Amino acid sequence: MEYCISLRGLSKTYKNNKQQIEALKPIDLDVARGEIFGLLGPNGAGKTTMIKLMLGIIRPTSGSCFILGEDIASLKAKQYIGYLPENHRFPLYLTGQQMLEFYGNLSGLSGLELSRRIDETLELVKMTEWRKLKIQRYSKGMMQRIGLAQALLNRPKLLLLDEPTDGIDPVGRMEVRRILEHVRGEGTTIFVNSHLLSEVELITDRVAILRKGVMVKLGNTHELTQSRDRFIIKLGASVNDTPANVPGMVHYDAQKQEMEIVAQTLQELNTVIDTLRARGYLIEAVSPKKSTLEEIFMTLMEDHDTPASHHVEA
Ligand SMILES: Nc1ncnc2c1ncn2[C@@H]1O[C@H](COP(=O)(O)OP(=O)(O)O)[C@@H](O)[C@H]1O
Ligand SMILES: [Mg+2]
Repeated sequence: MEYCISLRGLSKTYKNNKQQIEALKPIDLDVARGEIFGLLGPNGAGKTTMIKLMLGIIRPTSGSCFILGEDIASLKAKQYIGYLPENHRFPLYLTGQQMLEFYGNLSGLSGLELSRRIDETLELVKMTEWRKLKIQRYSKGMMQRIGLAQALLNRPKLLLLDEPTDGIDPVGRMEVRRILEHVRGEGTTIFVNSHLLSEVELITDRVAILRKGVMVKLGNTHELTQSRDRFIIKLGASVNDTPANVPGMVHYDAQKQEMEIVAQTLQELNTVIDTLRARGYLIEAVSPKKSTLEEIFMTLMEDHDTPASHHVEA
C-alpha cells in the first residue's frame, strides 16, 4: 500500500551557536490516504518542527519523508500539499480575494481557472460575503477560514494544518470541523497539529502524542478514548438505595443511577449483571467507559521517569 505520508527515522536537531536542541528524535510514521491524523502535544513538543519537515521548509538532521511516494525534496511532493501555518500573518492591506489571487499565482494558477477556484473555495469556507474586505478587518474566525481557503486553493492531496482552531470560539471551531469533514469527503488526507485535545478527539481517525520530540503514544482515536476494563451500568426504574457489595464497582452516581465497574473479561461483567438482576435491579444500559484523550494526555505528561519509547504502540 502506498501511504500518503511515510516518515522513516526522521529527526531534527536545531543548532544555534554551540547550543543543540533535539526538537524531534528519529520518528517512523505512516499515514494512510484519506485519513485524518492528529498530532497532539504541549508547547515545545516538536509538532511544528514535524510539519515543517513534511513541507521541506527545514532540512532533516536524519531520515526521510515521502509524500505519496515522492521525496519531499522534490517539487512534485510539494505540489501535493496545502498548508496552513501556525499564527499565520497574511498581508493585512490585501482583501481576502487579493490574498487568494497572490497565493494562487504562487501555486501556478491563473486566469479563469484561478477565479473559478477562488469562488468555489470562498463558498466552501463561507467567506464569499467578505472577499472584498481587507484582512485587517477580519475576525479571528474569518482569518482562520481565509487561511484554510489559501491552503485548499491548489486542491491538495495532503492538507497540513498547524493549530487551525487556536484562539477561535466554539462556533468557529465547529465551522472548521465542518470544512475539514467536507475536504476529507473528497479524499484529501489531513494532518493536524493541535494542543487542543477535545478538538482532535472529535475529528481524527488516529492520534499521536508527542512529548519532548518523542512519540509517546500512537493509536486509533476511538480505541484510545475507550478504557478497556471499565464499564458503565445504568439502572432503570427508580433506585432508592446505593447498591452495595457489587463486585468490581468503583463508583455509584445516585443521581444518574449509574455505576462504574471494573471487569477484565466479559464473563466478569456478566457476573456483575447477574448479581444486580438477582437483587431485582433493572438494567437500562451497559456501555464501555470513555476516557477522554485529555486524561490519557495528562497521564503521559506526568509520567516523567519512564523512558518514553516504552509507551509506543503500533
Ligand atoms: N528555528 C529554531 N531554532 C532553534 N530552536 C527551535 C527552532 N524552532 C523550534 N525550536 C525549538 O524546538 C522545540 C520544538 O519546537 P516546535 O516544533 O515549535 O514545538 P511545538 O510546535 O510542539 O510547540 C522547542 O524547544 C523550540 O524552542
Ligand atoms: Mg507549534
